[in-house]
Amino acid sequence: MRIIRAKDYKDMSRKAANIISAQVILKPDSVLGLATGSSPIGTYEQLVKWYEKDDLDFADVTTVNLDEYYGMKPENDQSYHYFMHDHFFDHVNIDPSRINLPNGMEPDEKKECARYDAVLRSVGDVDIQLLGIGRNGHIGFNEPDDCFAKGTHCVELTESTIEANKRFFVSEDEVPRRAYSMGIHTIMTAKKVLVVASGEDKAWAIRESCFGPVTPKVPGSILQLHNDAIVIADEAALSLC
Ligand code: GLP
Repeated sequence: MRIIRAKDYKDMSRKAANIISAQVILKPDSVLGLATGSSPIGTYEQLVKWYEKDDLDFADVTTVNLDEYYGMKPENDQSYHYFMHDHFFDHVNIDPSRINLPNGMEPDEKKECARYDAVLRSVGDVDIQLLGIGRNGHIGFNEPDDCFAKGTHCVELTESTIEANKRFFVSEDEVPRRAYSMGIHTIMTAKKVLVVASGEDKAWAIRESCFGPVTPKVPGSILQLHNDAIVIADEAALSLC
């Protein structure tokens, strides 16, 4: 695991965008694993800026997203579909047919998990998986558990995640209780994993993920076993390391 120290959120975002853009320049038909949340917004902003300057081309890129809220319509502005279009897809020349996310509106969990796993198999290896990290160490929506989940699954969100995500909703009652998430095994098969973390509220998760025991109680800790995992964290997120 390589830890890159960033001065602040902006520096973290620029460094992460540099790594992703190098990937896309070297391999224009890259498969990018994408993440939502406030952590990667700056990374997407930077990639969009470079695209607008003609420095990047996403025409042949395929994307797979980590997760989506269960029961959430794509047009709902809190859905991860909406987020990705708002922050990234609508601003670059990505081919809509190469964008993949779990379908939160599929009520049949088994069906949706099997469908998304088939999509993930068909796109091939993810070249870079971008990840944020939850305060409790969750990655995607893989919450602390007794074992690591392998493939796509439907998760019950923990109180800590509901509490952390309520800032995006009018009230806590509106925060979905469940979500579809890519599994840990799938995340681990990405060729490169890139974690972005900013702020003091991530300090515990970063310390435990980078230096704590590898345990499903802290899902991010599995990344210690990945042979090309990069953590870009700012001073505040590294304050307990
Ligand atoms: C959500 C997402 C995760 C994200 C995490 C942290 O629960 N499912 O993918 O990493 O929140 O979000 P933020 O970056 O806003 O702190």
